[in-house]
Amino acid sequence: MSSTLKKAAAGFATAALLVGGLAACSSERGGGSTPEPTDGTTSETSDAPEEPAAEVASVGIAMPTKELERWNRDGAHLEALLKDAGFETSLQYAENKVDVQISQLQNMVNAGVDVLVVASIDGTALGPVLQQAADNDITVIAYDRLINDTENVDFYATFDNYRVGTFQGEFIVDQLDLANQAGPFNLEPFAGSPDDNNAKFFFAGAWDVLKPYIDEGKLVTPSGKAPASNDDWATIGIQGWKSETAQSEMQTRLNSFYAGGEKVDVVLSPNDSLALGIAQALDGAGYTPGDDWPILTGQDADQANVLNILAGKQSMSVWKDTRDLGDRVAEMIKSLAAGEEVEVNDTETYNNGVKVVPSYLLDPIVVVKDTVEEILVGSEFYTAEDLGL
Ligand code: GAL
Repeated sequence: MSSTLKKAAAGFATAALLVGGLAACSSERGGGSTPEPTDGTTSETSDAPEEPAAEVASVGIAMPTKELERWNRDGAHLEALLKDAGFETSLQYAENKVDVQISQLQNMVNAGVDVLVVASIDGTALGPVLQQAADNDITVIAYDRLINDTENVDFYATFDNYRVGTFQGEFIVDQLDLANQAGPFNLEPFAGSPDDNNAKFFFAGAWDVLKPYIDEGKLVTPSGKAPASNDDWATIGIQGWKSETAQSEMQTRLNSFYAGGEKVDVVLSPNDSLALGIAQALDGAGYTPGDDWPILTGQDADQANVLNILAGKQSMSVWKDTRDLGDRVAEMIKSLAAGEEVEVNDTETYNNGVKVVPSYLLDPIVVVKDTVEEILVGSEFYTAEDLGL
């Protein structure tokens, strides 16, 4: 965290110093200008103990890609919240290209932002640019995905990623009644992008639930693609969370290991973009919803996947109301700008290889066909028309 904001986080009494300090700090930075406050106050510091000037802090928002539905919602919501609160914002998408995201972050640093909000593509690749941010007194908030191997991450805001996985594992156990059934049931597991720090938490949450049933022989994996332990999750990872890659992998498994009439009973998909590709492969292999279609998990409640849930082509999704995540990050930024303590609720889980990053975890929610309308339309995340209801 920048030295200026460290002083600020010490408590409200320093607000005048913070605001002045922030203005002084950002005007000292190389490169771009500090946007003038929109309420007519000056951003100059002064000795007289005046009302703290309203500092229009500048926020850089770095999102991974527009290709995956949820990030469009994340970026738009956070940008709107911050603009409404009087902040200057720069929202950038890097189309899942790490070098593009790094140069976008460098540009934000050079433009003199006060805070960076980063949903990283590769959480291990940002050390040098975040050192530049720290050198310029910029506070860094990791958004949804932890940034690793650097001390220059001040806060992390996300959903409980391990819980996402346990919801998926528990759903499979319940649906197959594994406590009482002998099986064996054919399970095909998938994992997320190997460069995404979240992916190992999703997998561990699910595998910790499912592994005992695998060891007991109630769940078997004809493709052999069942990681021996949580540490081996990346062996079944899908780079960039690409639907088409998941589709092709599922097609290969179906063609190679299910050509003799064997059926897949359950697919562990960590998120909806993979589930979409897997569903297309199942369609192509002649599986029929309501007949032999396997249990298929997901995450994010993407619109296409919710439609698949309603059509019986996906069994559940773990919904993360990304509006809540944006609200939380906006609160963090407002606290920083006001010199108040930033609220966190987890100071133990997320060790990024250099330090445990103070975090705020939100709760994910399971959505199934019978609860789509109550949860997703009821919360106005979608309209009934969005979902053909
Ligand atoms: C994860 C994110 C998930 C998932 C995936 C693809 O990091 O937490 O919501 O959808 O990326 O965007």
